[in-house]
Amino acid sequence: MSQPVRKKLIEVALPLDAINKAAHTENNIHTGLPSNLHTWWSRKPLGVARAILFGSLVDDPGEYLPADRATSKRDELFSIMAAIADVERSDEKELFARATKEILQSTNGQMPTFWDPFCGGGSLPLEALRLGLPSLGSDLNPVAVFITRVLIELAPTQALHPPINVDDRDTFLQGGGKFDGLRRDVEYYARVINERLVERIGPCYPEATLPKRFGGGQAEVVAWIWARTVVCPNPSCRAETPLATFRRKIDVFGSTSMGFGRAKTAGPPAVIFEGLWM
Ligand SMILES: C[S@@+](CC[C@H](N)C(=O)[O-])C[C@H]1O[C@@H](n2cnc3c(N)ncnc32)[C@H](O)[C@@H]1O
Repeated sequence: MSQPVRKKLIEVALPLDAINKAAHTENNIHTGLPSNLHTWWSRKPLGVARAILFGSLVDDPGEYLPADRATSKRDELFSIMAAIADVERSDEKELFARATKEILQSTNGQMPTFWDPFCGGGSLPLEALRLGLPSLGSDLNPVAVFITRVLIELAPTQALHPPINVDDRDTFLQGGGKFDGLRRDVEYYARVINERLVERIGPCYPEATLPKRFGGGQAEVVAWIWARTVVCPNPSCRAETPLATFRRKIDVFGSTSMGFGRAKTAGPPAVIFEGLWM
């Protein structure tokens, strides 16, 4: 006879304040975490990924304990969840061993295989691995697949390896963290690739000339939108006009955190798209 399906903890309750706090802290860390290796849109904070996976795998104690004991067991699971969500504690072996033990108690002693079919930057497959699950990821975007492969297949093999790049390999001293060698190689080769790209295609991405109302001068453009252009059929205009729609009003000046450069024009009269937004 098939076993009755037990509700999972995540279906009953979550320590949301602790998870939100951990997410906020992690979102403000921009270096040193595996997820900092490459950005991806809507990437889940690693601590949140761990907590959510844990809550999805352990049974709610109300399914197998009387109400009063279920409450205290739930509190115990909440404290594990809050602790594994904490970015400062992601290397605590005992804590993760405890979390893994709880998961095994809810999965008949056998870890299920985890598969994220929309893995993006790989947060969920990576954290499933950390919790001891065999882990897979896939995505229709090859860049996402590449990032995830590096995170869950390549990076773990590089723990405590010295760097191989010519600048660092002879002078490297272990001590800056398990993945310091890998970090230095990534930084070195990113610099090399960037320099080569700037040489070859840099002139296609010039600095923007800021309008006076934005302070004037030159500014680096951090995002470009390329558009096909047509020449205006009005003989008195003939402006080269980009065929593009933008979801935001173009010249809203917020902060310099993002911007797009102006479309190249053949000469006046011209339609110039330039702007900065938050
Ligand atoms: C929001 S991102 C996932 C972020 C991920 N959870 C993380 O933490 O990094 C959504 C992903 O779903 C992928 N995607 C969208 N539609 C898909 C489809 N039909 N099949 C596979 N992947 C898809 C996108 O390429 C994108 O990488």
